[in-house]
Amino acid sequence: MDWDQFNQRVARLQAMSSTELSGFPLMHEGKAKRVRECPEDRDFIVMEFKDSLTAFDAIKKAERSGKGALNCAISTFMMESLRATNIIPTAFICQLSPTHQLMRRCKVVPLEVIVRNEAQGSFCKRYGLEPGTPFPSPLTEIGLKNDALHDPFFTNDDIPIDILQLLTEAEMRIIRELARSANHQLTEIFLQHRIRLLDLKFEFGRRYDTGQIVLIDEINGDTCRLVDAITGEKLDKDNFRFDLGDVMAGYVGLARHLLLDVDAILKGIDTQPSPA
Ligand code: C5P
Repeated sequence: MDWDQFNQRVARLQAMSSTELSGFPLMHEGKAKRVRECPEDRDFIVMEFKDSLTAFDAIKKAERSGKGALNCAISTFMMESLRATNIIPTAFICQLSPTHQLMRRCKVVPLEVIVRNEAQGSFCKRYGLEPGTPFPSPLTEIGLKNDALHDPFFTNDDIPIDILQLLTEAEMRIIRELARSANHQLTEIFLQHRIRLLDLKFEFGRRYDTGQIVLIDEINGDTCRLVDAITGEKLDKDNFRFDLGDVMAGYVGLARHLLLDVDAILKGIDTQPSPA
């Protein structure tokens, strides 16, 4: 597909309404997003952000109006910021509606790649460390993306390569390097907005058209641990996971740090939790 064709196809999708996009055939329904096929555009998929919140392998669940729109806008901002660095290839093409993004179609590499800048969350639980314990340099943990098996971490890089045959050794090296580099870029981008990135999770895929390994999925308060760099206020899903505060207030705070127009993102949406 040449650039003119690519741009024409994107423009056609950009002209569609949310309702039309939500009518595209469903390929996969995840906890936080639906993935839809683009009829006639096999190189693309549409990602639809849901208002669902889940934690601990979906044992804890909630619905919050506006969460999908906020996460979609935040992830768009982060993907566009990463693209501007010209270092990290991503599947992201553009945002199509308040809750839809257009992505390149990829074969998902079923790994969860976590990069930690300090000890937090499950790392503290596993090793009995105080949250905030510093690391000499960022640490990468790679696990199998499989909820039923609780996303088990690999103890050795060779396991996914030789036994599970999920990817080649060269692809594994690329994924490690992309994760390290994307963490570095995102740490800088967040800091420019007075946010500290404590840790995050990446997912990767192989582009169907070129075979290139690219960053897929989303980057926002669902997938990153983030705090206000000055006040320490939490801006991520830990507010929901551990009942630390109002998760939507944290996400609104995150969007405001990034100078996004929160009123426009949440226009017409009542974000108050419904009484139990
Ligand atoms: O819970 P844990 O400390 O292992 O999480 C590390 C980072 O990975 C956190 O930023 C969390 O939001 C993210 N994560 C995720 N999806 C998972 C597991 C972790 O986005 N399934």
